[in-house]
Amino acid sequence: MKRDAKLIAALNDLLSDELTAVNQYMVHSEMCAHWGYHELHEMIEKRAIDEMKHCEQHISRILFLEGTPDVTNYKQITVGQDVKAMIANDTALELQAVKAYNEVIALAGELGDEATADYLVVILHDEEGHVDWGEKQLAQIDQMGIENYLANMAGEE
Ligand SMILES: [Fe+2]
Ligand SMILES: [Fe+2]
Repeated sequence: MKRDAKLIAALNDLLSDELTAVNQYMVHSEMCAHWGYHELHEMIEKRAIDEMKHCEQHISRILFLEGTPDVTNYKQITVGQDVKAMIANDTALELQAVKAYNEVIALAGELGDEATADYLVVILHDEEGHVDWGEKQLAQIDQMGIENYLANMAGEE
């Protein structure tokens, strides 16, 4: 089903955001595993997988709309040098994602493509959940101190 080139470009831009997030989170998740923060490793790894599934949804939708999925474009990857910086960088990325999804949902609405808007809304809820997770971690780090927070995150391998 052929659709507006502007919408395909916007979906490819979301795909590029998601590919960036997958890579950033994979690095953070493995850094946490390397330091022995297994709980945190698992939580961040799960999030990398969520973002990978978002990539798949965009690729599938772009193909359906007779566009070409572009998996070669990445945005700036910001690796944090410690756990607090990682979570702050990831949360900044998630806030950016919420903004971007809202914009493309509005565009799909303007173009009368409700089904595209619908699947983007489902992803937007995931991204808001990711922001919520990040903000909770940052609040806990502020309230209990990074040492206590990290002690909780060591867990079992
Ligand atoms: Fe995502
Ligand atoms: Fe996300």
